[in-house]
Amino acid sequence: MVTRPMTSLERRVIAWGCEVQVCVPPMQGQRRDSGVGLRGTTPPMGGIALRLATPTTFTPRRRAHHMADPTPRIVDLSQHVGQTVTVRGWITHVRSSGKVAFAVVRDGTGIVQTVLVKTQLPPEVWERFKELTLETSVHVTGEVRAESRAPGGHEIGVTGLTVIGASPIDYPIQPKEHGIDFLLDNRHFWLRSNRVRAIFSIRNEIEQAIHDFFYERGFLRIDTPILTAAIGERSGLFSTEYFEEGNAYLAQTGQLYGEAAAAAFGRIYTFGPTFRAEKSKTRRHLTEFWMIEPEVAWNDSNDNMRLQEDFVSFIVQRCLDRRSAELRELERDAAPLERVRPPFHRINYTDAVSVLQQRGSSITWGDDLGAEDEALLVAEYDRPVFVMNYPKEAKAFYMKENPEDPRTVLCDDCLAPEGYGEIIGGSQREDDYDRLLHRINEEGLPVDAYGWYLDLRKYGTFVHSGFGLGLERTVAWICGLPHIREVIAFPRMMHRLRP
Ligand code: 4AD
Ligand code: MG
Repeated sequence: MVTRPMTSLERRVIAWGCEVQVCVPPMQGQRRDSGVGLRGTTPPMGGIALRLATPTTFTPRRRAHHMADPTPRIVDLSQHVGQTVTVRGWITHVRSSGKVAFAVVRDGTGIVQTVLVKTQLPPEVWERFKELTLETSVHVTGEVRAESRAPGGHEIGVTGLTVIGASPIDYPIQPKEHGIDFLLDNRHFWLRSNRVRAIFSIRNEIEQAIHDFFYERGFLRIDTPILTAAIGERSGLFSTEYFEEGNAYLAQTGQLYGEAAAAAFGRIYTFGPTFRAEKSKTRRHLTEFWMIEPEVAWNDSNDNMRLQEDFVSFIVQRCLDRRSAELRELERDAAPLERVRPPFHRINYTDAVSVLQQRGSSITWGDDLGAEDEALLVAEYDRPVFVMNYPKEAKAFYMKENPEDPRTVLCDDCLAPEGYGEIIGGSQREDDYDRLLHRINEEGLPVDAYGWYLDLRKYGTFVHSGFGLGLERTVAWICGLPHIREVIAFPRMMHRLRP
C-alpha cells in the first residue's frame, strides 16, 4: 500500500465531517485496488477526493458518537431519557379520560406507554388518538421520561402522532380467551403476542447456543440436501416427482450425508428442516421440524452420549443465563432446568423394560418405548436419562450391531425430564460393509439408492457416531410448554398447512 502523511488541510476536513481519500498514483506493477483511501474506493488518479458526508455516509459506529438515533427501538429507550424520539410500532392498548389519553405501543422489542395531554397538543394531533385501534401501526414522537409505574418503565410525552396503517375494529385476536385452533388459524397475528415473543427469544437463544457449542469445538456445519433419493428413517415419507429420476423424497434426516462429511472433515453437524409424513396427532409430532445432527469420526456410542450430555447441558445453561426474563414470562419453574448437568442417567433398554413392567406398563421386549412409557421411566430421575441399546427391530437399519448382544444395537434415546420424552435419538453407525448390506436388504430398502452410503464402508471404513436433536421438542421442554406446535412459527401438522 502506498501512503503519505495527511496534510493539515486534510486533517481539518476530517474534523468537519467530510470523507477524505488520499491517493498517490500506483507504482509500476502494483495493483490499483491496493490503493490508499480513508474510505471508499481509490480515485482513478492520484490526488485528494472529498465527499461531503451526509449522515448515511457515516458508519453506524461513528454516527453513535455524533448524534442519537432519532427512531430508537423500545428496548433501548432507557438510553434516551430526556430526548425527543420517534417510536415506530403497533398499538396494543388505549384509554382516555377525555383530557389525558394513553396509547401503549409495541415494536417487537418491548412496550412503551405514550401519553397525550389535550391542552398541550394541537387539536389535529389530539383528534388522531380516536383512530387508534388495536394493531394500528403508528409513528409516535415525544420526549422519553422514566416512569416506573408505566408498563416497560418508560413513558413518552406525545408531541406528534402519525397513523401509518389503520386496523379495523374486527382485528381477530382480541384481549380475551381464544381456542387453540382459532389461534393457529390466525398464527400470522398470534405471533405478535408477548408470550409468543418470549418463546421465540428462547428458540433463538437455543439456536445460537447450538452454533456456538459446535463452533467452539471445531465442528464444521454442513448443509445437507432436502430432496433425496435414499430413505433415512422408518417414519412416513413425502415424495414428489423428480424429472426423469423417478421419485424424490423430502429429507427425514441429514445423517447419511453427514456420515460422508464426517469421513471428509472429522466433526460435522447439520442444522436443517426435516420432514416426516407421520399421521400422528400427538403433542410432540410435526410433519416439518428442525433437527440438529452432529456426526463424529472415531466416536463410539459412549463418546456419543458424553457429547449429548455436554451439548444439552450447555443449551439449558445458556437459557438460564440469558433468557431468565422470558422463562419467567412463561412461568417456567427453573429448578428442574438447573439440575440438568452431566452425567445423565443411563439405563439399558432391557432393564428399562423390566422397570416399566413393574410399574404397570404393557410393554414387551422388542417394542419401542411409547410416550407414556418414557414419562413413566423418567419419573424417578431428576435429570435427563439415556435409554441404551434397543432391539434391532425397533430402530433404523444403520445402527451398529451390539457385539455383546447381537439382538440389540449400539444406540441411545435421550429422554428429557418432567415427562417431555425423547429429545435425541443417537447411535454408533454400522461400519461393516456386509452387515450393513444385510440390514438394508432385511428392511426391504432399494439397495441401488444406498450405493454411495455403502461405499463409505468399502473405502476406509471408520468407527463413527452421531445423533439428532429435535429442536422443537427441546424448545418446548425448556419453555415448559405441553405442545410443540407453539414453538415453531408456522407449524405443519397432519391437518394444518395454513397459514
Ligand atoms: O430419533 P430420530 O428419528 O433420529 C434420526 O432422525 C437420526 N437420523 C438422528 C441421527 O442419529 N443423526 O429423530 C431425532 C429427533 C427425535 O429425538 C425428536 O426429538 C425429533 O428428532 N423428532 C421429531 N420432532 C418433531 N416431530 C417429529 N415428527 C419428530 N420426529 C423426530
Ligand atoms: Mg427416535
